[in-house]
Amino acid sequence: MSADHECCGVTRRRVLEGGAALAVLGSVRPGLAAEAMPQAPPISPTDPGISTMDVHLTVNGTAQSLSLDTRTTLLDALREHLGFTGTKKGCDHGQCGACTVLVEGRRINACLTLAAMHDGDHITTIEGLATGEQLHPMQAAFVHHDGYQCGYCTPGQIMSAVGMLDEAKRGFPSVVTADLKAHPELDDHEVRERMSGNICRCSAYPNIVAAIQDAKGAA
Ligand code: FES
Ligand code: FES
Repeated sequence: MSADHECCGVTRRRVLEGGAALAVLGSVRPGLAAEAMPQAPPISPTDPGISTMDVHLTVNGTAQSLSLDTRTTLLDALREHLGFTGTKKGCDHGQCGACTVLVEGRRINACLTLAAMHDGDHITTIEGLATGEQLHPMQAAFVHHDGYQCGYCTPGQIMSAVGMLDEAKRGFPSVVTADLKAHPELDDHEVRERMSGNICRCSAYPNIVAAIQDAKGAA
C-alpha cells in the first residue's frame, strides 16, 4: 500500500501538510491534549488579598494594556489574557522550552517570568514572526526539513532558534565553544547544545538541527 494512500478523498500527506502550516505559524491545533489542560479558576482582581498591576506590553508590534494579578506569568498573560495561544504551555516549570518567546530580542521561557516584570517591554511570539504571508526563514526551513511531528514544541523551537542565532551572531559562546576568543562556529554540536533547553517529545531533533543549519544564513 502506498504510504500516501487516500481515504475519503483526504490523503495522509495532505493532513500532514495542513498540520505543518499550523505548527510553524503557532495556530491552535484541535485535539491536542495539552491545550485542553484544566485551567485554574479565574481570580477576580477584587478578591481580598489580590494585588493587581497595570502592565503595558508591545506584543508583535501592537501595544497592549492589561490589569493583572501581579503573580500572572508572562506565558499566562500572552495565552489567557491576550489570546496568543501559539506560545505553548508544556511543563510550566522551565523545563521544556515550549513557551519560548523573544523579549527585547532575547529568548526567554515565558512560564518562568512574571508579566509585571516586563512592563514596557517588546515581546515577539510565533504569531509575530512572519511578515504578512511571507514565512520567516526559520519557519520556512522547519517546513522544508519536516522539523516537527506533533508540532507542540515547534513554536518554542522556532522562537528559540531565532534567538539563538542572534546570540551567536553577537559572539556569545556556549559551554561547548572551544575557542572563547573566536566568533562561534555553529556546527551541529553547537546547535544541539544551544537548543538543549527545547525538548521535543517526538524526537524530531535531527530535522530541527537541519532546519536551523539551513536557515542560519538567512534568518
Ligand atoms: Fe515553559 Fe515548559 S512551559 S519551559
Ligand atoms: Fe512533537 Fe516536538 S514535534 S513535541
